[in-house]
Amino acid sequence: MLESYQPDSAFTYLGATDLLQLQLNSKVIVSVALLFLTPACLAQFDDLYDRVSIAHGGASQHLPFSSLTAFEAAVEMRPDYIETDVQITSDGVLICFHDLVLERRTNVEKLFPDRYTEVDVDGDNTKTWYVNDFTLAEIKTLDYGSWFSPEYAAERIVSFQELIDLVRGKVGLYPESKDPDFYHARGMDIDEALHDLFVSNGLSTLEGQKGTPIVIQSFHESSLKRLRELNGDNYALIQLVWEGQDYDYMSDAGLEHIASYADGVAPILRMVIPPNAQRITAAHEAGLWVHIWHAEANFPAPGYTAKSYMSYLMDVLHIDGIMNHEPDQFPLQ
Ligand code: G3P
Ligand code: CA
Repeated sequence: MLESYQPDSAFTYLGATDLLQLQLNSKVIVSVALLFLTPACLAQFDDLYDRVSIAHGGASQHLPFSSLTAFEAAVEMRPDYIETDVQITSDGVLICFHDLVLERRTNVEKLFPDRYTEVDVDGDNTKTWYVNDFTLAEIKTLDYGSWFSPEYAAERIVSFQELIDLVRGKVGLYPESKDPDFYHARGMDIDEALHDLFVSNGLSTLEGQKGTPIVIQSFHESSLKRLRELNGDNYALIQLVWEGQDYDYMSDAGLEHIASYADGVAPILRMVIPPNAQRITAAHEAGLWVHIWHAEANFPAPGYTAKSYMSYLMDVLHIDGIMNHEPDQFPLQ
């Protein structure tokens, strides 16, 4: 057990914002909070609060990101959560897919050559194939594996319902709500769609989430606020951060701001390793968990294995959770 800071997922179940605004020492708050937790809540708390392994796109180090094969392999490796990006089809079905458009990782141009939209990119007319212009049935005909390797040509894009069915009762879910403004412009609310799917699966309550806790992440604070509005403290919420955002979320003021509507912050790794590691302490002092994500090319750092580097991030830098591509390498101790 780390000495310096115990992440405060219990806050999620006890009225996070009110407690955090007290700005008391986090250990004291957790101790007091535990007195009021029911046994059911304690089980949730155990899953959420320390050394959190989040399989980013499944076991994606050697398998196609967010494919059924990568998700199935990850479940066997028993991370705490499986991460996936979420987009919506034209018939309103949530799918596990990173991009807003299909052409980078599928053969949509070959199968649906005329179904493009022309967009202006730096003054040039460019053809693009939006996910949201295709039904789930059409999307299921696409090859979602050849981008990775020809041997995976039979992979199909996974619906979020299929992922729920795969993980239920085994590991948690860590979906990323993406592109809310794009969908709003088309009359769709991706956050409401996500919430509705959890409701229909009995996963919108803490009781329903036993065995399948739900953490929702987004770069868009509007999405996180919408989810809190829709379902109170029943989902843990994580603000994603990288340097390209308009607002400096990792500043002291930014972290305090996040704590007013979310439970944690997940910056890209390079923003919190030395010489910036003090931002981890600052986030903890604001009452936030710190999870990280990373781009494959810089992980692990030279001289480390994936396992020893993840140990360093958690034991030395006190990062609470890691979106990783190799959940079988995640150091449990
Ligand atoms: O969800 C963490 C990370 O995946 C965020 O970046 O662009 O890959 O969704 P992106
Ligand atoms: Ca993501």
